[in-house]
Amino acid sequence: MSTQMKTEEEFNPYLSGNYAPVMDEHVWEDMEVIGEIPKDISGNFLRIGPNPVYVPDVATYHIFDGDGMIHGVEIKDGKATYRNKFVDTEGLRLEREKGTWIWKGMASMADLAKGVAPPEEGLMKNTANTAMVYHSNTLYALMEAAPPHEMKLPSLETVGEHDFNGKLTHPFTAHPKVDAVTGEMITFGYSPMPPYLTYSVINPEGEIVHTAPITMPKGIMMHDCAITENHTIFLDTPITFDFQRAMEGGLMLDWEPENGTRLGVVPRMGSDEDVKWFDVDTSMCFHVANAWEEGDEIVVQASRSLKSNVASATENAREGVVDPDEMGKLYEWRLNMKTGESSERYLNDVHHCDFTRINDDLMGRKTRYIYASRFDLDHGAKFNAELKYDNESETVQVHELGAGRWGGEGVFAKRHGAAAEDDGYVVLFVWDENEQQSECVIIDAQNFEADPVARIKIPSRVPFGFHAGWAPDA
Ligand SMILES: [Fe+2]
Repeated sequence: MSTQMKTEEEFNPYLSGNYAPVMDEHVWEDMEVIGEIPKDISGNFLRIGPNPVYVPDVATYHIFDGDGMIHGVEIKDGKATYRNKFVDTEGLRLEREKGTWIWKGMASMADLAKGVAPPEEGLMKNTANTAMVYHSNTLYALMEAAPPHEMKLPSLETVGEHDFNGKLTHPFTAHPKVDAVTGEMITFGYSPMPPYLTYSVINPEGEIVHTAPITMPKGIMMHDCAITENHTIFLDTPITFDFQRAMEGGLMLDWEPENGTRLGVVPRMGSDEDVKWFDVDTSMCFHVANAWEEGDEIVVQASRSLKSNVASATENAREGVVDPDEMGKLYEWRLNMKTGESSERYLNDVHHCDFTRINDDLMGRKTRYIYASRFDLDHGAKFNAELKYDNESETVQVHELGAGRWGGEGVFAKRHGAAAEDDGYVVLFVWDENEQQSECVIIDAQNFEADPVARIKIPSRVPFGFHAGWAPDA
């Protein structure tokens, strides 16, 4: 029995409970199912997240720092196979060879400002821990400061970093957008050093066909973007990088509301001089749901919060502090391309939520429904429900997960031969704290508040993570 007590400094909420990493990789078949796995979907439900192998300092570990691990549930003919695998990054390989940590993650930004030399192995580790995208018959694991990792399906084996035949000249957002109609993938990268923002378009064959630096007043953390049929929308929100501030003892990455918030609209193949910027109320937006064109207007729907403080996330979580102003709610901006004016409103001001998703076939086209995960502000902002927002009735349906059951990002998987936008299922992982049991939960999107059609009990624990995705059969 261990008698070692953890001091407050040693306790890190993002290394404890169901945030704690798992080290073993499994393949499970014939799992126990409550309900029935639908036979009219086939594909791979995927969820990626930080799963640190070596932690330099438990007290300062940031949830952004962990090594990427993908948890996948392959669904076919009413049967499911679960697999989990580390993304086999070069950084993790080097650390495993050394037998200890090399990179300090978010904490290394302070070192950089102090002039401490980075590790000889490189400035940072490409953790590939944030999100995934499926494009041109290829699955990529993404982190926003580095190139994508190409992955195999359904095995989740790592092929390696992908630089688009040397044409990728910038970091690659974790949230590129795939236009299902044209087959193009729209992406960007941000940087603390100029060019602060670079925009790229990738053709259906997976080749970069357009790259343009975009002028920004300051380096910022730009986590997501949006597309419409003809345009791309950048989110200039005030989480800024500031070397001077860091050298003076402040944070390298901090909330700077006086910088304000702007949305920038550029034609899909446009460049810096084509960007139209719209000033909007100061706010933070981590995740867009969708955007589309309506007459002269661009409509953008998202989860939007009044402020943000990513750098202090660990301290706040350790103290159990949840600031409602930092938690998103469903929101809409309308940008008039003719007049240059904008309007904005809450779509729903009751539920705090994030991880906004749609039927991805309609990315950039008008959508009726948004799916999102609802925060429980009384329980450290874990997710206790899935939401389905209806733009026509302006109402929300709530799929409660139940007491002590915590969710994560849910993705929409369409039914074979789907006829309607919501003809399919919402799939997510749930951690049942009472039973200490991980489940893959499948909800009928058209009978959203009913019990799940299937709860697949995963024999090993699936830690909380970041983004989910759905990829077709390989
Ligand atoms: Fe994200």
